[in-house]
Amino acid sequence: EKGGYDHFMYKEIMEQPEALANAMRGRVHADEGTVKLGGLEDVMKQLEAADRIVICACGTSWHAGLVGEYLIERFARIPVEVEYASEFRYRDPILNENDVVLVISQSGETADTLAAVRQAKEAGVLALGVVNAVGSTIARETDAGVYLHAGPEIGVASTKAFTAQVTVLAQIALLLGKTRGVLSDADLKENLEALAKIPTQIREVLEQQAEKIEAIAREMRLAQNALYLGRGVNFPVALEGALKLKEISYIHAEGYPAAEMKHGPIALIDRFMPVLFVATREATYDKVVSNIEEVVARGGSVIAITDTGNRGLDDLAEHVIEVPKTSDAFEPLLTVIPFQLLSYHVAVMRGCDVDMPRNLAKSVTVE
Ligand code: M6R
Repeated sequence: EKGGYDHFMYKEIMEQPEALANAMRGRVHADEGTVKLGGLEDVMKQLEAADRIVICACGTSWHAGLVGEYLIERFARIPVEVEYASEFRYRDPILNENDVVLVISQSGETADTLAAVRQAKEAGVLALGVVNAVGSTIARETDAGVYLHAGPEIGVASTKAFTAQVTVLAQIALLLGKTRGVLSDADLKENLEALAKIPTQIREVLEQQAEKIEAIAREMRLAQNALYLGRGVNFPVALEGALKLKEISYIHAEGYPAAEMKHGPIALIDRFMPVLFVATREATYDKVVSNIEEVVARGGSVIAITDTGNRGLDDLAEHVIEVPKTSDAFEPLLTVIPFQLLSYHVAVMRGCDVDMPRNLAKSVTVE
């Protein structure tokens, strides 16, 4: 049942190429330059005309929501807000007729996320779901939605659900970009081609970086704290990297937007705390490099994820992990992979129960 692996989490990390191909099957037609989401067809007119999309979720699904915010605003130019479902339900949220609530949940059973669906429906607002578990309560109670088709996720630490959620949100963003006339046919096709390549590129990361990541884990396993930094669409990846590490290895970790470092976290830096950067060569690369220099100047040890072939960090970072180049909007799908593997190996080396970390349940059906 674990596919020959020791843990479900590892199996699910390794399954991502296939899970993402399934999340795109019959939907992404890169050769034709079209994207079809059958589950949204009936509500497309309303969704297209939304004044605002409010995304509600918890944990890793909330991180996927933050990536979704970036993708929907960038490709479709609809304002998006991302809320913790647990906060949303208690703040008497302002919902207007033309708002749409979009919830994201792997299990489809998370109590706070379900409450957000009910709140949306009570306010008479369209409630959509991006859910993995077929026939789950959230899938049944939402007005419409898109399934991940990522297959069952058993490990408490969410891995393939995160990348499948981002893949589905990317498809929603591209579809809306097209129907709202923001994206040209050429831009749409180019982005669909980039998305279609992701499963193969994830496989490359899994194969080519595995050994290096295990070696880094060996060094990191004794750390007591870790800092994860990224910018733009990779900021949620920093949050997700930190969550993955803390929940299964019990090492305290925090994620921040890289530029926020000097507003506080920089005080923590010493040679015992690994600082993990997502530093791909996109718009803010030079600024991220300055942040890396600041950490190194304070004796910190840097682990950087960058795009293949970038030798610019070799003299600065202790370790450089390379992921293939993709459209910068889809980078989280590749940059998160080393963080998943790293947490897994660190946790195993520390003797932790990776699939069933202490105090945690796979689905949180109580508040
Ligand atoms: O099933 P859901 O996606 O609604 O679950 C949300 C969170 O409970 C979940 O992502 C949690 O944070 C994971 N343990 C993270 O790995």
